Amino acid sequence: MKLSLAEFRAMNNPFRQVLQRGYEFPIFKSLGLIDQPGDVLEIGCGSGYGAVLLSSLRPRSYVGVDLMPEQIALAQKRGLDGAQFFVLDATNLSQIPSESKDTVVIFGVLHHIPPWRTVIGECARVLRPGGHIFLEEPDNSLIDRWENVFHWGHPGADLSLPALEACLVENGFKITGRKHAFSFGHYSAQRQNHA
Ligand SMILES: C[S@@+](CC[C@H](N)C(=O)[O-])C[C@H]1O[C@@H](n2cnc3c(N)ncnc32)[C@H](O)[C@@H]1O
Repeated sequence: MKLSLAEFRAMNNPFRQVLQRGYEFPIFKSLGLIDQPGDVLEIGCGSGYGAVLLSSLRPRSYVGVDLMPEQIALAQKRGLDGAQFFVLDATNLSQIPSESKDTVVIFGVLHHIPPWRTVIGECARVLRPGGHIFLEEPDNSLIDRWENVFHWGHPGADLSLPALEACLVENGFKITGRKHAFSFGHYSAQRQNHA
């Protein structure tokens, strides 16, 4: 689901970048996100700051997808060498071939997508066996408290961290790392041979 104007502004300010660079990206690295992560797909890439961070790892290729054309326009303006950005709904990644990616990265996106389980299935499909997903999401209890204060208009995706973990396993992932902090779950998981 597209962001409300309030959340769009919050996601595209310098503080968000500080958090992503200084906290979230290092957590993904501590969970196993390595240099040269192969062919990378970022789901819900927003205005492309995740692409800046991921490009520093020297992937073979990087593709970022987002539902909002205005986010993709901002991402393209960054002029990142070799990075490609597309307007795509992550619930249907049929334009991306099966088993074509080594690494999928999601910085806080699934809680915007009521059929988020479909996205996990798509991530399993596009990853090569042995490929990795790195994702972070807030538990829905946090989103409910957040909505009561900020009224950002989250869609009520009903994503709890136990449900997210179960969905990863159901889609053929083995969870290889997890960190829970401040009602956020950060995960690394590896696609097993039979998704
Ligand atoms: C909370 S923002 C996070 C953006 C960026 N990952 C970051 O960490 O700053 C969620 C992003 O997911 C995108 N999004 C929401 N629903 C989507 C969908 N169905 N498919 C692809 N992107 C989606 C939104 O447009 C938005 O850019």
